[in-house]
Amino acid sequence: MHLHRRNRILRANPAIRSLVAETILNPADFIAPLFIDDGENQKFEIPSMPGYYRNSLNITVKEVKGLWNLGIKSVLLFIKCKDDEKDNTGKEALNPDGLMQRSIKAIKNAVPEMLVMTDVALDPYSTYGHDGIVKEGEILNDETVEALAKMSVSHAKAGADFVAPSDMMDGRIGAIRKALEENGFTKTGIMSYSAKYASCFYGPFRDALDSSPGFGDKKTYQMDFANRLEAIKETLMDVEEGADIVMVKPAMAYLDIIREVKNAVTVPVSAYHVSGEYAMIKAAAEKGWVNEDKAIIESLTAIKRAGADLIATYFAKQAVKLIAS
Ligand code: PBG
Repeated sequence: MHLHRRNRILRANPAIRSLVAETILNPADFIAPLFIDDGENQKFEIPSMPGYYRNSLNITVKEVKGLWNLGIKSVLLFIKCKDDEKDNTGKEALNPDGLMQRSIKAIKNAVPEMLVMTDVALDPYSTYGHDGIVKEGEILNDETVEALAKMSVSHAKAGADFVAPSDMMDGRIGAIRKALEENGFTKTGIMSYSAKYASCFYGPFRDALDSSPGFGDKKTYQMDFANRLEAIKETLMDVEEGADIVMVKPAMAYLDIIREVKNAVTVPVSAYHVSGEYAMIKAAAEKGWVNEDKAIIESLTAIKRAGADLIATYFAKQAVKLIAS
C-alpha cells in the first residue's frame, strides 16, 4: 500500500500523543464542591457517594488548604441545615452567623486566595426541600427571587467571591446583580446555573444534604431534559442579566448542550459533573467493572473537550493527583 496519509503516525507513542493532544486537564479547571456540617472534628461519609464526606467546618478548612496546595483554585460551598432551622422562607439562609456565612469567613481567612463560591438556593433551608418558597403546592417565583437576592448579599458580605444561584427561578440573575450593586458589592461575581436540567442524577446530593423535595419534583423550575434550544435561551438571558460565568448541569449526559452553549456565549462556561455521575463511576469501579482512574480522566476530559472551561466535580482532588502522576 502507498498511502498518502497515515493517521496512526500521530498516535504511535505516548510522546507524540501528548504533543498533539487537543484537550489537557489542569488543576485550575476544577471547582471542588464541599459539603459542610455543624460541629467539630466531624466527618460523615455520604452512603451514595463513597469516599466523599460532609465535614464540620474545622475539617473543611484543613481540606481547603490541601486543595489549594494541589493547585485547585476554587471551592463551591454547600451546607447542611439542621431540621429545626428549616422553614418555608429559608430564613436561616440569611442568618449572618449561619453555617454558610461562618464557613465563607473561615475559609477566606485561612486561604485568602482560594476563590470561594457559594450555592444560592433555598432547598437545604426549606422544610419542603424545594428551591423556592411554597404556597399551596406551588413554587413562587418573584418572592423566591427576592429571598435569593438577599441571600446573595449576605454571602457577599461574609466574603464570598462568587455567588452561584442554582434554583432556576426567572429573573434571579438580574435581581441578584442589582442587589449586589445596590449594596456596594461590585467585586462579587455571579456563576449562574443557567441550563440546569431536572435530573435524576442529583439523587446522592440530596442524600448528602437531606434536601429531597418533600412533595412533587422540580420540573416546574428545572429544565426538561428533552430540550436543547431552551438551554441557549436560558443562558443568553442570564448573560444579559449579568452572569459572569454560566453553567450546564449535569455534564456527561449533556455534552451536546455544553458545546452549544460554548458556541453561543463569550463568557466562561462551567459544567457540573454531579453527584449521580460520581456515584455511577464509584459503583461500577467498586464492582471491578470499570477502571476508576481511567473513567475519571476520560469523563473529565470529555467534558472539557465538549467546551467546559471549568468543571465542578467531586473528583477534583483525585483528578489532580492523577494528572500529576
Ligand atoms: C441545589 C442544588 C442541587 C445540586 C446543586 N445545587 C440539587 C437540586 O437541584 O436538587 C445538585 C448537585 C449534585 O447532584 O451534585 N439547588
